[in-house]
Amino acid sequence: MNFQLTEEQELLRDVARKFAEEHLAPGVIERDDKAKMPVDQIKQLGELGFMGIMVPEKWKGAGMDTVSYVLAIEEISRIDASAGVILSVNNSLVCQIFLDWANEHQLKSYLTKLASGKWLGAFSLSEPQSGSDASNLRTFAEKSNGHYILNGTKNWVSNGISSDLVIVFALTTKGIGYKGVSAFCVEKGTPGLTTGKKEEKLGIRGSDTCELYFENCKVPVENLIQEEGSGFHIAMKTLDGGRIGIGAQAVGIAQASLDRALEYSKERKQFGKPISSFGAIKSKLAQMATKIEASRLLVLRAAALKDNHQPYAKEAAMAKLFASQTAMETSRDCVQIFGGYGYMQEYGVERLMRDAKITQIYEGTSEIQELVIAKTILEK
Ligand code: CAA
Repeated sequence: MNFQLTEEQELLRDVARKFAEEHLAPGVIERDDKAKMPVDQIKQLGELGFMGIMVPEKWKGAGMDTVSYVLAIEEISRIDASAGVILSVNNSLVCQIFLDWANEHQLKSYLTKLASGKWLGAFSLSEPQSGSDASNLRTFAEKSNGHYILNGTKNWVSNGISSDLVIVFALTTKGIGYKGVSAFCVEKGTPGLTTGKKEEKLGIRGSDTCELYFENCKVPVENLIQEEGSGFHIAMKTLDGGRIGIGAQAVGIAQASLDRALEYSKERKQFGKPISSFGAIKSKLAQMATKIEASRLLVLRAAALKDNHQPYAKEAAMAKLFASQTAMETSRDCVQIFGGYGYMQEYGVERLMRDAKITQIYEGTSEIQELVIAKTILEK
């Protein structure tokens, strides 16, 4: 077993780290407070190839592997988890769908724009009555004269407001469960597609989330991805990969929590000594460091399996489950180590705790990850 990264992987990680520290760290507290997206930084990340890390260079991506992708998402999320999810959705949910399932026309029309950061993508599966029960959709796409007419409401769409293209899952046949789900690419600006208000969120406030409304929205038949009925399979397979990215985002938040806690505990003196000299604090720091290493290894293993074309659904679910739990626990312990200061916005560690929570919810809740893992191990 070789735990060594390649030179290219290390280089990409270092570029991501430098970019995050120089361009995302300034203003991160203000962006969180005002719920402002890092628009310029996302454009720059696009120019550097970070919006299509796994997309071949011929489509204007970076042509790197999944391991490189998770290293980048961790580094970006260590400084700004909102930027982390903006990238993660565009890379592993949207660009990946094009790489795995799109036809030549769809690739030519959209992939270069998405991978180069000219356009931003969103992935729209959930509906008000359909979160974990992902196939229980109501949005309906009726075929008529060379078009599909979409009607329905989608919600919790990450990048929903700023995106230029949305991958939308809708029923094309009712009453046959997941076999009636189809996937479409829908351009923003298509008549009949409107965005709802920007949601006020607990965390990752620098990324926008909204509802999407489809009212007789006419989408050309060429925008159907694969064939009618293949949508649920596409969503599930794509989310398997997406979950590795969210695992990496969680590792980034957890690492930031440890970095801040280490720094502070060495500086902060109580009872005449740095608090890092107390057993209670040492124990917390050691637990945090160990859980982070374990989470990172789970994420890298799932990414390596994907790169080697081996099954990785269970490993991706394990990586997301464990890393998101680690992000929650380490960010909570970081706030605890900071004490009263940790509860104040100005110190920027309460944000880590708020950002961590979503990693246990989106791209499948922790309970759904347990279900995926249990199903796989029981079937063996
Ligand atoms: N990978 C690949 N295929 C899978 C799969 C997985 N993880 N889980 C299910 N499937 C396939 C099954 O093999 C089956 O296909 P076949 O009949 O061809 O074998 C088909 O899907 C149906 O499977 P189930 O009967 O198990 O489906 P189900 O209706 O019971 O649901 C579920 C299974 C795991 C609960 C699924 O609904 C699920 O993953 N729910 C969570 C949804 C989710 O993650 N939403 C995230 C929204 S997007 C988002 O969050 C983006 C963002 O904002 C950042």
